[in-house]
Amino acid sequence: MVRLAKRVTDLPPYLFAQIDEAARRARSNGLDIVHMGIGDPDQDPPEWIRRILAEEVMRSGSHRYPSYKGHPQLLEAALHYLDRRFGVNRLNLDNVCTTIGSKEGLANLAPAVLNPGDSFIAPDPSYPVFATLARQIGALEVSLPLTADNHYAPNLADELTEYQLQSARVIYVNYPHNPSGCAPDKAYLQNVVDCARQNDLIVVSDLAYAEIYYGAEPPISLLSLDGALECVIEFHSFSKSFNMTGWRCGFAAGHPDLVRGLTQIKTNIDSGVFNAIQVAMARVLADPHCDEFLSDNRLMYAKRLDRVLTVLAQLGLEYNRPGGAIYVWCRIPNGDRDSIAWASALLDATGLVIGPGRGYGVHGEGWFRLSLTTPDADIDRAMELLAQFMRRN
Ligand SMILES: Cc1ncc(COP(=O)(O)O)c(C=O)c1O
Repeated sequence: MVRLAKRVTDLPPYLFAQIDEAARRARSNGLDIVHMGIGDPDQDPPEWIRRILAEEVMRSGSHRYPSYKGHPQLLEAALHYLDRRFGVNRLNLDNVCTTIGSKEGLANLAPAVLNPGDSFIAPDPSYPVFATLARQIGALEVSLPLTADNHYAPNLADELTEYQLQSARVIYVNYPHNPSGCAPDKAYLQNVVDCARQNDLIVVSDLAYAEIYYGAEPPISLLSLDGALECVIEFHSFSKSFNMTGWRCGFAAGHPDLVRGLTQIKTNIDSGVFNAIQVAMARVLADPHCDEFLSDNRLMYAKRLDRVLTVLAQLGLEYNRPGGAIYVWCRIPNGDRDSIAWASALLDATGLVIGPGRGYGVHGEGWFRLSLTTPDADIDRAMELLAQFMRRN
């Protein structure tokens, strides 16, 4: 008999794989599915970006193993991008490496910064990968509740004890926040960095939604804050910004030892991102059309957001108005707390797939997440299905 290792049997099922499986089952039972469950952009990257990739794919010499640290052209482009978009201008090539998207980078950073028995602070609710991977190497989770009461941006000293802050080794930070969309101001994030420095914490910042925001200014890169270069590593991803979740490319930037630790783990595990993709992304970041595309993409999400919020308000549902990211975080009506049962009942009755709040952490219970990666016609249908379900229940 084949027996898998305990670290695998202990792993919780991956939320988004479960959501996909539930949708597949409902579809095979004859339901017409409307999917607002997963944050996977429905749009393609624009044609000019795909043409750049095609040119790079055709280039002779770009098909061998990539450099472990990343293609120098992409690393240089990433440094310029950080300066241009976020005012981060004190970095050099020692501060940056390519990743196979943020998920891979976050997963491989965990063993570089945490020993078994160390504790780490992770937001709850959050993208599940932070805590799952850190737990898997035997580190202990201290969960930081992000709730409507603390506006998803808690004062660390209010929510955590001095002992928890002093004994933890790492804190994960993700703003714009998945799932609430919270995008706090500079003063709040500076307090997080200051508190991390006082307590000798490594800050792992996940800026996967750097280019999707609803105000005038982009989100804050933690790397732009005072003292950040002493303790921060930040993950940037092209997945959501450029509608290319399938390309698997991003970069990490920050303290050179943290970047070196990550690269050292990666060197033993993967062999980097296809050079054609890395060079294509270097060209995209430097292209005069880049900012125009990012701005158009934001406008599309802003229109979808309005569409959803208008109906949620009509239905009397409580939601958090997002400052960024591609989600709407809503409270389940009628004070129902069991989000998984509620999501299943909704799916079975209507074919509408949403993300149950519990999947993002204990403090997500009682809430659900709608993803805006859905075309207008499907959003309208989803809102109608939600309204029908609420009328009947
Ligand atoms: C907060 C957060 N970080 C990282 C990722 C994964 O991004 P990537 O495609 O770069 O691995 C996601 C995907 O949903 C996310 O929500």
